Amino acid sequence: MKLLVCGGAGFIGSNFVRLRMRDHGDAVTVLDKLTYAGREENLADVAEHDGFRFVRGGIEDAEAVADAIEGADAIVNFAAETHVDRSIAEPDAFIRTHAMGTFVLLEAARERGLRYVQVSTDEVYGSIEEGSFSEGSPLAPSSPYSASKAGADLLVGSYHHTFGLEALICRGSNNYGPYQYPEKLIPLMVLNALHGDPLPVYGDGMQVRNWIFVEDFARGIGHVLEHGAPGEAYNVGGPDEAANIHVVRRILELTGAAESLIEHVTDRPGHDRRYSLGSEKVRALGWEPQVRFGDGLERTVAWYRDTAWWWEPIRSGDYRAYYERQYGRALGGRLETLD
Ligand code: NAD
Ligand code: DAU
Repeated sequence: MKLLVCGGAGFIGSNFVRLRMRDHGDAVTVLDKLTYAGREENLADVAEHDGFRFVRGGIEDAEAVADAIEGADAIVNFAAETHVDRSIAEPDAFIRTHAMGTFVLLEAARERGLRYVQVSTDEVYGSIEEGSFSEGSPLAPSSPYSASKAGADLLVGSYHHTFGLEALICRGSNNYGPYQYPEKLIPLMVLNALHGDPLPVYGDGMQVRNWIFVEDFARGIGHVLEHGAPGEAYNVGGPDEAANIHVVRRILELTGAAESLIEHVTDRPGHDRRYSLGSEKVRALGWEPQVRFGDGLERTVAWYRDTAWWWEPIRSGDYRAYYERQYGRALGGRLETLD
């Protein structure tokens, strides 16, 4: 298959590109704006392969899309602003990318009759105290991030309903694994623990997330691309749930860092308490998660410990200013490669 992968230089997108080129022999064009979260380094190992092309541009830019889409059989759209805290501080880019960007891609797919997969999130359903969300649960997003993602999902549905576009939606739970930008809980805590910096836990730390190893989600998206029914949404949730404080404590054990590094900080405004996805529909198509949280977390900690070339430029650049604004304190100074 020839795929246009939008947002393919980010965390999940780059893992998806690697999997599709390696295991399925797909040719891939990545269209990516390279925001702070998108990095060509994430694709360093596939960039030299035949069949790979990179186009720098925004999904809201119809000319860039027209260039990148040439020869594609299908579009998979990962491109998004993805950090909830940033959407609370500065929502503008979230609305532009999720609303306008998705619209431009849908128009391009419609003109060419291409199959289209929108990568979405469990956050569109909001928070759930007990039980799990199914695809039929009402959308009740809480943050500018999740509200603009829900808007994009509705637009995707409308292009199937009105124009007959072969459009599908994949809603994932919290991903973790290699190449995740260290503003998100797990990589932030791993790197801070490795550097002896404080671990900022929001509120009581009892918020629950449904963790999925990134390669499992990438496989799930590929599965929906190949076997899903047009017009349908598929939940792709991980096999395990855990409260944040338990995740953080396990990271301390795996890194050998001290419990005293944990610091309870002011909670996120509008913080969703629990996410949980029921994924029976995609399981019925033949997909299952393969990595349990315990194993995946060990692999993830090992990857960050062994891959300093990837995170050193991040921790020494603009990210330091972001971190200071977000947590009201400077990152620790020890930036040399870890022993
Ligand atoms: P990420 O922040 O690591 O990567 C996003 C990528 O999109 C970056 O490469 C960035 O440069 C690119 N991008 C942003 N705006 C763009 C634009 N206007 N045009 C082109 N490219 C643009 O994100 P991620 O965690 O890999 O998430 C990918 C997708 O998966 C998102 O749609 C997100 O909502 C969804 N998702 C993420 C998770 C998670 O836990 N990370 C879970 C479920 C769903
Ligand atoms: O559920 C899927 C979503 O998961 C994706 O759609 C989002 O793109 C992705 O960012 C993620 O959203 P969360 O808000 O759940 O992820 P985050 O890593 O920001 O936070 C996970 C939990 O940890 C959440 O309850 C907030 C908490 N947290 C986070 C940070 C960054 C802390 O306690 N301290 C922190 O410093």
